[in-house]
Amino acid sequence: MRNKIVAGNWKMNLDYQEGISLFSEILNMVGDETRGNQQVIVCSPFIHLYNIAQQSKDSENVFVGAQNIHQNDSGAYTGEISASQVKSTGASYVILGHSERRAYFGEDEKLLEVKLNQALKNGLKPIFCIGETKDERESGEFWDILAKQLKETVFLLSNEDFANVVLAYEPVWAIGTGLTATPEQAQEVHAFIREEIAKSFNQEVADNTSILYGGSCNPKNAAELFSQADIDGGLIGGASLKSRDFLDIINVFN
Ligand code: G3H
Repeated sequence: MRNKIVAGNWKMNLDYQEGISLFSEILNMVGDETRGNQQVIVCSPFIHLYNIAQQSKDSENVFVGAQNIHQNDSGAYTGEISASQVKSTGASYVILGHSERRAYFGEDEKLLEVKLNQALKNGLKPIFCIGETKDERESGEFWDILAKQLKETVFLLSNEDFANVVLAYEPVWAIGTGLTATPEQAQEVHAFIREEIAKSFNQEVADNTSILYGGSCNPKNAAELFSQADIDGGLIGGASLKSRDFLDIINVFN
């Protein structure tokens, strides 16, 4: 049975004290409960990683992730953070391929493939994002674009490495806009992604891959989205910054 995951992406929000305190609240609310195959992941700015990873090290259902890594092992890359440095904090996940990194930092498939391997080599599990822009959806080209985003990155991995990848479908037009994909629109794409995984690997691999939805997901729409057959949870931006909203989304699986 594949994991059901609610992952929070704090993006560039919360100072050190605010982040530590929000994470403590989340951990107190869900950290001790037995939640079977459900996982909660918090992807914080780098400054919080060590503290929150240590806070959650005994929890069986709450994990910590970074939002980026550099593609090289180490060296003269002022201001950058390597996968092994992230791993040394106790974090276990890293978001890669997020549309904000693609749009504002020029990250393309070629670079993302290197980053994926760098994460996996260092024992970090990638939460790999794909998604189309509004223009790409309206032109109808988005199926090809989504397939390309997969084929040139995660589909180049071995079966063994791909088993450690969580996928996230985030339509760019729905991120931070309040415009959520309808459950039907999201399910249609998630089913397509699972079919592509089956074609590239096999049906068993496809059935075991968690595919999250991201884009203006909130306590009001999460239940309907997560009830779709191929939606295994969410990657939550804005609503992960409020403990009550994030908990309400997490509790959709209870
Ligand atoms: O990584 C999270 C997504 O970009 C979604 O952000 O929930 O604020 O729309 P949002």
